[in-house]
Amino acid sequence: MDGRLFRDVLGHYPTGVVLVTAIAADGEPVGMIVGSFTSVSLDPPLVAYLPTTSSYTFGLLRGAERFCINVLSAEQEDLCRRFAGRGDDKWAGVGWTPSPGGAPVLDGAVAWIECSTEAITEAGDHYLVLGRVHDLGVLNPMAPLLFFQGGYGRFTMSSVVAASSPDLVASIRLAEKARDDIEMLASRTGAAVDVVAAVGSDLVFVGAATGADVAPSVPTLGTRIPLMAPLGEQYVAWAGEPAAERWIRRAGVADPEVAQGLRSRLMLARERGWSLSRLDPEDELDFYQTLRDYTESELVPAQERALRDRIVQYSRSYEPVQIDPSAEYCAHSLVVPVLGKDNKPLLNIRLVNLPRPATGEQVLAWVLELRRCAASVASRLSEDARSQRLGHGTSTPGWG
Ligand SMILES: Cc1cc2nc3c(=O)[nH]c(=O)nc-3n(C[C@H](O)[C@H](O)[C@H](O)COP(=O)(O)O)c2cc1C
Repeated sequence: MDGRLFRDVLGHYPTGVVLVTAIAADGEPVGMIVGSFTSVSLDPPLVAYLPTTSSYTFGLLRGAERFCINVLSAEQEDLCRRFAGRGDDKWAGVGWTPSPGGAPVLDGAVAWIECSTEAITEAGDHYLVLGRVHDLGVLNPMAPLLFFQGGYGRFTMSSVVAASSPDLVASIRLAEKARDDIEMLASRTGAAVDVVAAVGSDLVFVGAATGADVAPSVPTLGTRIPLMAPLGEQYVAWAGEPAAERWIRRAGVADPEVAQGLRSRLMLARERGWSLSRLDPEDELDFYQTLRDYTESELVPAQERALRDRIVQYSRSYEPVQIDPSAEYCAHSLVVPVLGKDNKPLLNIRLVNLPRPATGEQVLAWVLELRRCAASVASRLSEDARSQRLGHGTSTPGWG
């Protein structure tokens, strides 16, 4: 076996990085950086790692009664390099506290797992050390340090990556072409208007206009929110079945009846061509704070799931209602899509900060205004695309 090829190919499999710690026979802390850590068994609780047989540090570790696996965070790359190196004073300035069994738990680690040695098996030029878990905990639920192709990196949610993709630039350019139309809509309705685009697996606010005496809408320009039920209904309703299924799955909907309800909701949204939300004013602060937390922090999956569950709680505010012109409604926002070639959804236009309550007749009048605006934006974009095909005019990224 060509050792370089072996290392190169296996280096394409990413790993986390842990520091295995213990108190050595001389009473001093000792630590070894390991990428070969894995969980093994739940019952009994076992984990494992593979130190090389020539490791000096493992020689110190193996005699200890208890050892501790410390899952390193992305902020601990320097510490990792120090412990993996040859220096003498690796523990200088490193904060730690003893685990219940006395092994060092590093300050700033993501998680710790305290073990005793269950078995040590020879495995070629490495040992396979099986550890029995005695105690464990999450210290800092943050992004872990990763090792891949010989380099360090960090975990990023795919939605964060998507939001910085070239699609975002294309959507901003589309929104810019809608500016005159949305400013007109804001002045005619006296409400706040947003332009929202789907970018990767998120919705991003890419345009805004405000009518007289109305506060701008709370999700400000650049805000990113997850494209999942119930958010972004008027985009997903036009984006095809795979997108609809992703939208339902991402919201964590497991109950087939609830999923079917969401599919019916999308069908109605498409038939109508508009959607209405009725968020309670007293829920607004919490809802926007949840969306802001989603946007502004660097999420790890556990946090994303918690925020997702809170967003899904607001699903009832998005349930469709039949509009009776003479009844009163507390409409929070109204949304219509801007459709391109083959009814492909390009942007959503959203009216928000509407006076509450409003008569059904007023709601239907707003819908009409919105649809006029969306039709005008669609024809402007299609005109641009045509003149671009003919070789003049400015380009319209994202079209067709
Ligand atoms: C990211 C990373 C992962 C590593 N994983 C392992 C491992 O799984 N097993 C191992 O024996 N050494 C591993 N090492 C090497 C050891 O951390 C350490 O550098 C080596 O054991 C030092 O030799 P010594 O123990 O003789 O002082 C890894 C090093 C790095 C940087």
